[in-house]
Amino acid sequence: MKLSKTLIFSIMSLLVIFSGCHKKNIPEIDERVENLVSQMTLEEKIGQMTQVTIQVVSKTRGSVDQINELDQAKLEEAITKYHVGSILNVWDVGHSADYWPEVITRIQDVATKKTRLGIPIIYGIDAIHGANYTLGATLFPQNIGMAATWNPELIRKSAEITALEVRASGIPWNFNPVLGVGRQSLWPRLWETFGEDVYLTLTMGAEYVKGLQGDDISNPVNVAACAKHYLGYSYPLSGKDRSPAWIPERMLREIFLPSFKAAIDAGVATVMVNSSEINGIPVHSSYYLLTEVLRNELGFKGFVVSDWNDINNLYLREKVAKNQKEAVKMAVMAGVDMSMVPYDFSFYELLLELVKEGAVPEWRIDEAVARILKVKFELGLFENPYPNVELKKQFACDEFREVNLQAARESITLLKNKKQTLPLSKNVKVLVTGPSTNLLSVLNGGWTITWQGNEEALYPKDKKTVLAAIREKIGAQNVLYQPGVDFNEEIDIPAAVQAAKGVDVAIICIGEPTYCETPGNIDDLTMSAAQLKLVEAIEKTGTSVVLVLIEGRPRLINKVVDKTDAIIMAYLPGMEGGQAIADVLFGDVNPSGKLPISYPRYPHSLMTYDYKNSETAGGNDYDAQWSFGFGLSYTEFAYRDLTIDKTEFSQGEDIRVTVNVTNTGDVVGKEVVQLYVSDLVASITPPVKRLKGFRKVELQPGESKTVEFELSDDDLSFIGRDNIRIVEPGEFVVSVADLKAKFELR
Ligand code: BGC
Repeated sequence: MKLSKTLIFSIMSLLVIFSGCHKKNIPEIDERVENLVSQMTLEEKIGQMTQVTIQVVSKTRGSVDQINELDQAKLEEAITKYHVGSILNVWDVGHSADYWPEVITRIQDVATKKTRLGIPIIYGIDAIHGANYTLGATLFPQNIGMAATWNPELIRKSAEITALEVRASGIPWNFNPVLGVGRQSLWPRLWETFGEDVYLTLTMGAEYVKGLQGDDISNPVNVAACAKHYLGYSYPLSGKDRSPAWIPERMLREIFLPSFKAAIDAGVATVMVNSSEINGIPVHSSYYLLTEVLRNELGFKGFVVSDWNDINNLYLREKVAKNQKEAVKMAVMAGVDMSMVPYDFSFYELLLELVKEGAVPEWRIDEAVARILKVKFELGLFENPYPNVELKKQFACDEFREVNLQAARESITLLKNKKQTLPLSKNVKVLVTGPSTNLLSVLNGGWTITWQGNEEALYPKDKKTVLAAIREKIGAQNVLYQPGVDFNEEIDIPAAVQAAKGVDVAIICIGEPTYCETPGNIDDLTMSAAQLKLVEAIEKTGTSVVLVLIEGRPRLINKVVDKTDAIIMAYLPGMEGGQAIADVLFGDVNPSGKLPISYPRYPHSLMTYDYKNSETAGGNDYDAQWSFGFGLSYTEFAYRDLTIDKTEFSQGEDIRVTVNVTNTGDVVGKEVVQLYVSDLVASITPPVKRLKGFRKVELQPGESKTVEFELSDDDLSFIGRDNIRIVEPGEFVVSVADLKAKFELR
């Protein structure tokens, strides 16, 4: 997984060339910020707080079929008349790594050469699973798949590559990672999260931030990260995107805040606000969350950007402001520093009026502008706002592809393998069927080339669908193909059934079409009727069935599970997903992914693994189809000797836990050693267990390793009755696989 020496060398040389003069030097930057702010007019300052979409400065609104070009007059108007400080996004479709630098250069030319103070623009983009708006970029599994790798080093590496490819496009700011904990299976943005667990999310999220930003965001191989969407966006009660969440303060702090805290501790430069509301209060209007908690408590020092049109939405949608002007005042005074307006200059005009009328104090403007300028200085934009063409040499290079392939392979999770159906021999004859079989778009999901990710014709021709990869693996003559059904409609199930009768194995790829954000809302978590019908029809033939799930959320398949022989979960595995799936199916790769979510069995039983004891009292059960952390391998692992260094501890002492794991099978494999802690009695009803450590280890057949974990007070703490984090003395159980050990905290 390591990058080659040549690559590291070239990256290091770039660091030396470009970073020397603007290494992050906080006192110096603070001075420069203060000095610059003191020279700025009110108009220039408010302009810095304004972010518009690229359509505002373009000849057309942009689309897949149009020539998408900047409009010089509009660009100059935005930057010289309205002093905008930031532009975002894309003309609905990704552009080449050559075109982006041209666009950014033109924008920075205006900002730096045609304005009084020459303040560069900070351009921001959603590079959610790689530089997804630059054609040909390295596109990784979506976050849910990255979480399934349980491999922090790999996510860090993926973020480093993403940063380099985004910067190669001339863009210094990425609106990722999504740090909402994904505990609502219906939510169409579940796949943008790292799953349901607090610890897994905060670990992977912080590594991602470190990978994107490196030690110093002025390095031209790094970009500023944006932790989003602060706070509680991922838990809408109805499961519909941008709809209300009801989250008690304790749960907010227990479940949803820690990942943001970890990102802030890792130095995240920016934060984006939750589009929606918690407990009836839109987060864009919450002084408590945006200032008291985020700034005063968590110590966040970067700047806060609104989400899309969401200041206006305080008036238009949430109805807490009586007009747009009141909405602007509310959001700015709550703590939003930059408005993603995004279609006009209304924010600029209204905020200017508000300050002139004395309704918004100028100190608040100075504060917001200073935060924005500070990030611009830290990024080195004042020294060099222009794209670095040198980076193109590494863009989408083979080594990046290898890392991507590894990520896709390590994400794939084997959920069922009756009588070792998998891996398949390469001498079999197979039917490949189902709607996800022959599309690249479904492997990638939303945020791929376009927002919805559904422009299949624009996908790179050199990447493999599952069908193409299987054909290559065992020879096209051994592969029959029948789509059978579309996502929601039958095409020709009888033809697929007929084909299944003549083969050894039917590989059925089912799942979801691409979607992103609100268009992905659903009313039913069950897999579509057409797809289930295809699976059932093929199961009836008696031919061995292997199900491949390609989906962003766990669509219920309980009806067909028993009769299938093997099931693999591929999530949204990215551009190398087709290859990785074929590698796992035919045994070139031993699967090592583990579920970062509970895969529900029933539509109304959507429990997470860290449920409360009472939830299973009275005959109920955590009856997930597959539980959080689950995933099979082609080998077996045996655990022994779970040991705690002492049985009694005092508060403040660290606790050392060791466990031995052995590969008892015949093939090399990777295992995720998962450490859970249970608090037996607590003043707030304790969850049955919580993940507090994990380690991915590779073991040769017969090899053993002792894995060591260190637990601190923090791992035993919880949010108490006063909504403050506390540690209580008492008995705790640590568990790894089936082993358990007890200790007492005095
Ligand atoms: C999404 C954000 C995204 C922004 C800019 C919004 O609709 O909620 O996640 O960063 O658009 O594209």
